[in-house]
Amino acid sequence: MTNIQFFSGEQIPVEMHKVKILQKLHLPPLDERLAAIASAGYNTFLLNNSQVFLDMLTDSGTNAMSDHQLAAMMVADDSYAGSATFTRLEETCGKIFHKDHFIPAHQGRACEHLLAQLLVRPGQLVPMNYHFTTTKAHIVRMGGVVVELPHEEALDPESTCPFKGNMDVEALRRLLEDKGAENIAFVRMEAGTNLIGGQPFSLANLEAVHHLCREFGVLLVLDASLLADNLYFIKVREEACRDMSIGEIVGRIAQSSDVIYFSARKLGCARGGGICTSEGKVAAGLKEMLPLFEGFLTYGGMSVREMEALRVGLEETLDEDMISQGPLFIAYMVEELQKRGVPVVTPPGGLGCHLDARRFLDHVPQNHYPAGALAAALYIVSGIRGMERGTMSEQRHPDGTEPLADMELLRLALPRRVFTLSQVKYAVDRIAWLYENRGLVEGLEFVEEPETLRFFLGRLAPIGDWPARLGRALQESLAYSTL
Ligand code: F0G
Repeated sequence: MTNIQFFSGEQIPVEMHKVKILQKLHLPPLDERLAAIASAGYNTFLLNNSQVFLDMLTDSGTNAMSDHQLAAMMVADDSYAGSATFTRLEETCGKIFHKDHFIPAHQGRACEHLLAQLLVRPGQLVPMNYHFTTTKAHIVRMGGVVVELPHEEALDPESTCPFKGNMDVEALRRLLEDKGAENIAFVRMEAGTNLIGGQPFSLANLEAVHHLCREFGVLLVLDASLLADNLYFIKVREEACRDMSIGEIVGRIAQSSDVIYFSARKLGCARGGGICTSEGKVAAGLKEMLPLFEGFLTYGGMSVREMEALRVGLEETLDEDMISQGPLFIAYMVEELQKRGVPVVTPPGGLGCHLDARRFLDHVPQNHYPAGALAAALYIVSGIRGMERGTMSEQRHPDGTEPLADMELLRLALPRRVFTLSQVKYAVDRIAWLYENRGLVEGLEFVEEPETLRFFLGRLAPIGDWPARLGRALQESLAYSTL
């Protein structure tokens, strides 16, 4: 894992790959950025990528593929049923996750749909270390109730706890005792807990949770979408795992999970998804639903080319040089921002760098969506597109009241092997400028608000004319005359 200590004493993450194919980038001028964010309803999801300079919206489906992945795509076996490509992918999943069955699906939320439909009955509880947006929506859709049992430091943005993604095992025991196993659909653990800043769980915690699940006869379902980053953190932060290979760590994780599902838009740097399990009844139930919702058993909504890319991508996930890249670049970004006083989630996690919008814009109340406003403001001053992960990403209660999110984060994703260190430095510089000028940024309000997953398609308006004032301040600053 490469983080080179230079002569100057500086720790610099070094890319362990070289650029072979490139996509030209364009930084639209300020007036175009102001117009673009206004016509996107101040929602970065609604920007066209041609209006974006550095797309840090997500690492989903945007990771760079390797030469081996691209080569594998050329030998894909195009057939509806019984494709040799599927057999190869099934074998690879079996080798890595040690499960008897692999059920393909078109992406992560499709796995969540199938699992919720099969396993969740109305009124049943689903305890988890923390929810993810689409996961919760599918569980709630089936009448289930999500119970968050995070580690006590999980929601503290400023922490040194190495495993903020751990589940509170004692709280889980109390819940299982109080409610009884029959009222629990399954226990869900999410690797690299997305909504709290890409924070990992430890192997010891997963094993303790699984032990309890066994004791009470409840299934443990692992969301492995962000497993690669979590593996890296287990390797470098968990004393007992230092000398284990990544493959051995995955093996131990698999032993402690009854069902493993993932978004291959993240894990495996491809597209698609899948579910691995040795639970015969679960596999049979999923296989019955698959042709109805996803496609035949040997493709499940994925193209064979994607499946070949995924097969190679999963194998590459076992390579320490490969999985260290994301976390090392993120750590660099977090530490550089900390040096400039910018509030960020610590310790650095996976997926991306997370700005703490509540502290960044402490004058903007939560119901004016500080994280959404910060996303719009950063786009205006830099052309960088991030993603709101706060109150906008929550759903209203049935009575129309709005729950305030536990955390207000602006996520700046670093898709794997995509950005260079100078692009990360550009982002740090612009964020630091915005922090100096944070008083200019005010909140947002919804003008169009969908009922479900409103953050995707909702449109907002600024409260006051702060975007124009921010633009003028940027123009006046001499830091970047061409911006
Ligand atoms: N689980 C986790 C932990 C995720 O991060 C995601 C997607 C999903 C499930 C759903 O997978 O997108 O393939 O359907 N996260 C994306 C993101 C959307 O940007 O964080 P999907």
